[in-house]
Amino acid sequence: MKKIISGVSIELRQGDISKQADCAAVVNAANAQLETGGGVAGAIHRAAGPELAQEARAMAPIKPGEAVITGAHNLPNLYVIHCLGPVYGQDKPEDKLLGNCYSKALDLAEEKQISSIAFPAISTGIFGYPAEAAAKVAFTKIIEKISTLKTLKNVIFVLYNQQDLDIHKRVLEQIMQGKE
Ligand code: APR
Repeated sequence: MKKIISGVSIELRQGDISKQADCAAVVNAANAQLETGGGVAGAIHRAAGPELAQEARAMAPIKPGEAVITGAHNLPNLYVIHCLGPVYGQDKPEDKLLGNCYSKALDLAEEKQISSIAFPAISTGIFGYPAEAAAKVAFTKIIEKISTLKTLKNVIFVLYNQQDLDIHKRVLEQIMQGKE
């Protein structure tokens, strides 16, 4: 599914965030220490190799809602943008902190003047954020900023399973209908 708003496409696809060769940057659902982990962080660090953690170490720790950028090492991308999402029920206000992740990731991508970025559903795995609520925050923030983007033309969401893809499709449709 693809929607175009202000000349920028928002695309939803099912897949593995560590296998998105057509995206200049991929976003990591990181931990504060920017080390390898489970889920997205595990897949990204495994595919990138140990140099990713070595490079990132100097920027750690980061706080919930923050983002930093590194090279992508052995990944088929140019950059990895590491976002620390909120732990649901713990880091508050969750919606603001999660929105900050998306906002800062877009800012970092624009600073590097790249045209495409791929996001996983930050905080919706180990950090426990309900997928539908997280999708609303993510799309609302991206659409809020979309007209200010200069170099980014493709914003891609990579959902790991069909259920999460369906939830994201539904939420994006609802938000778009509200805007029409
Ligand atoms: N590609 C795309 N999406 C994935 C992948 C993958 N390879 N692996 C998992 N996901 C999905 C999960 O199903 C979930 O919907 O990404 C979403 C985010 O899940 P997590 O990776 O658990 O991220 P998060 O909830 O932000 O928790 C971050 O997890 O791995 C640890 O060290 C990391 O402490 C940090 C925490």
